[in-house]
Amino acid sequence: MANITPAEHLADVLSRYEDSPNPRLAEITTAAIRHLLAFVEEVGLTRQEWFTGIEALTTTGKMCDEQRQEFILLSDTLGVSMLVEMINHVAADGSTEPTVFGPFHVEGAPRKEMGESIVIDQMSGDRPLVMQGFVRDLVGHPIDGAELDVWQTASNGLYDVQDAEQTPMNMRGLFTTGADGAYEVATTRPVAYSIPGDGPAGELLFANGRHNWRPAHVHFVVSAPGYKPVITHLFDRESDYLDTDAVFGVRNSLVVDMSGGQCRHDFVLEPSGG
Ligand code: BEZ
Ligand code: FE
Repeated sequence: MANITPAEHLADVLSRYEDSPNPRLAEITTAAIRHLLAFVEEVGLTRQEWFTGIEALTTTGKMCDEQRQEFILLSDTLGVSMLVEMINHVAADGSTEPTVFGPFHVEGAPRKEMGESIVIDQMSGDRPLVMQGFVRDLVGHPIDGAELDVWQTASNGLYDVQDAEQTPMNMRGLFTTGADGAYEVATTRPVAYSIPGDGPAGELLFANGRHNWRPAHVHFVVSAPGYKPVITHLFDRESDYLDTDAVFGVRNSLVVDMSGGQCRHDFVLEPSGG
């Protein structure tokens, strides 16, 4: 094994996975190895840089707990999470485009009547907003019994789970459409907010001259029996950061007019069999 080249080293490493009993795991592991080794070679990674990376990943792991998932934040800010959404939910023509889920969804949001408000805690900067439209199928028929799981930050730019001052479940609600497929959510106009910047994900953003802001948006998961659920947002057309979202989530079809306290947008689901 004296004086082997990087290419021979790669071949040797890959050969150790040839007898893996799990073909999918072997496919993922060997692809990761090929890309990682090529990356190390391409940038000529120094020992010091390798160790800085190890330390950053170590800190990332130590920051993770029930409330904080720094690895997901790293995945989001490197564009990985959005790519996973894109390749796993190829939207049929005309159906609602998906975007990132984010780490602030909470199971068990309160059920609301159509038109009810998701605001529990009023704040001084609140600007009332009514979001309405229809949940439809690909040919425009309304979908009865579609569920909309809605969440957003309060006007201070924080989700309830980030802010001890907020009542749990503030700015969250579950709405179910009737036979007309119509939905209506009373809320406040969303604000642009910064994602956590006090860990390795933020450090990497700032060191590369990037910011940690997301444009103003409201999160939706829209689902119905017999249809593919879509994880998405609606973005405020007048928000800052639409072109530089820290997590690459903006899609033109999801940018809507929220001026005048009203917003109209239809969600279009595709059948789960298609
Ligand atoms: C969010 O929109 O809630 C979010 C998405 C990705 C990272 C952090 C927050
Ligand atoms: Fe968000």
